[in-house]
Amino acid sequence: MMENKKLNIAYKKTCDCQPNHINCLTAKEWVKSQVGIWEFFYEKRDIRDKSIHPAVFPIALPAKCIELFTHKGELVIDPFAGIGSTLVAAQDLQRNAVGFDLNERYIEHAKKRLSQTRLENSAQQVLINDDSINIPMYLEKETVALCVTSPPYAHMLNKPRLNKSMRADKRNNKHYNEVQQYSDNPRDLGTMNHDDYANALTEIYKGILPLMKPRAHCVINVNDVWWENKRIPTHIYVVNALEKAGFALRNVLVWDKRNLVNGVGIFGWPNNYIKLGATFEYILDFWKPD
Ligand SMILES: C[S@@+](CC[C@H](N)C(=O)[O-])C[C@H]1O[C@@H](n2cnc3c(N)ncnc32)[C@H](O)[C@@H]1O
Repeated sequence: MMENKKLNIAYKKTCDCQPNHINCLTAKEWVKSQVGIWEFFYEKRDIRDKSIHPAVFPIALPAKCIELFTHKGELVIDPFAGIGSTLVAAQDLQRNAVGFDLNERYIEHAKKRLSQTRLENSAQQVLINDDSINIPMYLEKETVALCVTSPPYAHMLNKPRLNKSMRADKRNNKHYNEVQQYSDNPRDLGTMNHDDYANALTEIYKGILPLMKPRAHCVINVNDVWWENKRIPTHIYVVNALEKAGFALRNVLVWDKRNLVNGVGIFGWPNNYIKLGATFEYILDFWKPD
């Protein structure tokens, strides 16, 4: 039987916009989000030191999703919270939020980040060191307005880092040949092959679905990977896994990362065309269908 650890966390909107609006945006702000290619910039608070966490997204990414899909005071969750970028965005935007991560070190780092703000915070952000399969133990049904995350990209980090997208003179940096996986916990999705990964995602999101409000959005940032000289379309595994869990795909957005790519080497030329892996990632937008 599932243990009951329900959190006492607010989830109702505190703004005075129309109840049938999905967010607090004006028409002018809404129009900007209609372009399906999104670009983000890192700010000083973003953590880009791979020895703290190997795969952090910019705070601006969850911030945009939170603004687009929630009202002030509503509840956001991140099932793979890492060092808490989603919760920092929720704190900025006065949303309640709960983040889960298997790795205690990341949760402790995320808590430290959240304690650093001087902003007045009328909402609550909570971090939980647990497997995201256990999320239903913590939250009530139909309380979550948005689930936004970047899960591991299957076992992509489980191999030595070759820095192939860097120029040859920069490749041999301190992370060259390092294996930078999140953990060796067999429940860590970053240790799984793509089939086990997709099954694990389905089980986790089956648990999340009843916690979401009707038509609440569920956003997943993911990238495809190279594995043993084959291109593996991780985003397709994620779409299939989420649909199997009962979510419906609404939009496929592209995170254009060209502004973040620098010092790139020529690889493949002149006989093997391979696009640079680092130039874009997927942002998959699902919702809980009626
Ligand atoms: C791509 S990272 C997320 C980084 C995060 N977006 C940030 O900006 O800090 C994926 C995270 O999923 C966590 N993880 C992997 N399997 C998990 C599971 N079964 N339950 C909870 N967390 C898990 C890893 O520890 C890792 O921190």
